[in-house]
Amino acid sequence: MSATIIDGKAFAATVREKVAAHVARLKDENGITPGLAVVLVGEDPASQVYVRSKGKQTVETGMNSYEHKLEADTSEADLLALIDKLNKDPAVHGILVQLPLPKHLDEDLVINAIDPAKDVDGFHISNVGLLGTGQKSMVPCTPLGCLMMLRDHHGSLSGLDAVVIGRSNIVGKPMAQLLLGDSCTVTIAHSRTKDLPEVVRRADIVVAAVGRPEMVPGDWIKPGATVIDVGINRIDAPEKGTREDGSVKTRLVGDAHYESCAAVAGAITPVPGGVGPMTIACLLANTLTACCRANGLEEPEGLTA
Ligand code: GUN
Repeated sequence: MSATIIDGKAFAATVREKVAAHVARLKDENGITPGLAVVLVGEDPASQVYVRSKGKQTVETGMNSYEHKLEADTSEADLLALIDKLNKDPAVHGILVQLPLPKHLDEDLVINAIDPAKDVDGFHISNVGLLGTGQKSMVPCTPLGCLMMLRDHHGSLSGLDAVVIGRSNIVGKPMAQLLLGDSCTVTIAHSRTKDLPEVVRRADIVVAAVGRPEMVPGDWIKPGATVIDVGINRIDAPEKGTREDGSVKTRLVGDAHYESCAAVAGAITPVPGGVGPMTIACLLANTLTACCRANGLEEPEGLTA
């Protein structure tokens, strides 16, 4: 069997098109432009790349982007004051504080200072609780993107056995809640799970979100199952040779061993080009959703959980 490749890059493009079309209508019919504020504290290079990409895509879909870059030694009080200002700003419908924060800042405190209605990351404790009780909430972007791809591939997920490997607050736990919301039978597996291969072999849907390169081999996968690979791991690729400075070139791999899993699975997301591009697309979708809710307008169809 050869798996269907779930093309996250193409899917993300369709999500962005839907967002852009809805944003254009909002502007025309209601005179409203959704706005996303992204806050970056410090100079973490990976975070800088993400923030640039978020700002660019926000503008490309017709929304306003407000970037706030703060020094690495910004005090908690100053950061909280900025969040308070953004909470009160009617032009800002979504607020994202890029993580990780420098060590002297309390991430939970900062995230929970965001107005839950503007919490487009879905990390605020209120949104976590709303999602856990099946109520309308802001949903974390990466799991939302995974859910969209699963719904698109399967139609209904009802009754399917799903195993989520990884129990992070950002991916594993909300992913499990979303799958439960779509009536899957859900198992959350993690580093202490006994006989992980057997647990994974039962699954119709495997979501790998542990951050360990290629840890899920093909012989853990039930024939025909769908593999959603959330991992983005950079590993040495000596087969690609060396750079000018003599260092070994690298490549990106997921948490699933792609070739062996693709040989058994019914469908699989590649790395790169699978889940990754969906995360920012869902951030844009969440910003639009937050804007519609703030203005009492109809929410976009197919872009929420
Ligand atoms: N850092 C890495 N991923 C994320 C994310 O999804 N949201 C935020 N706020 N920071 C991140």
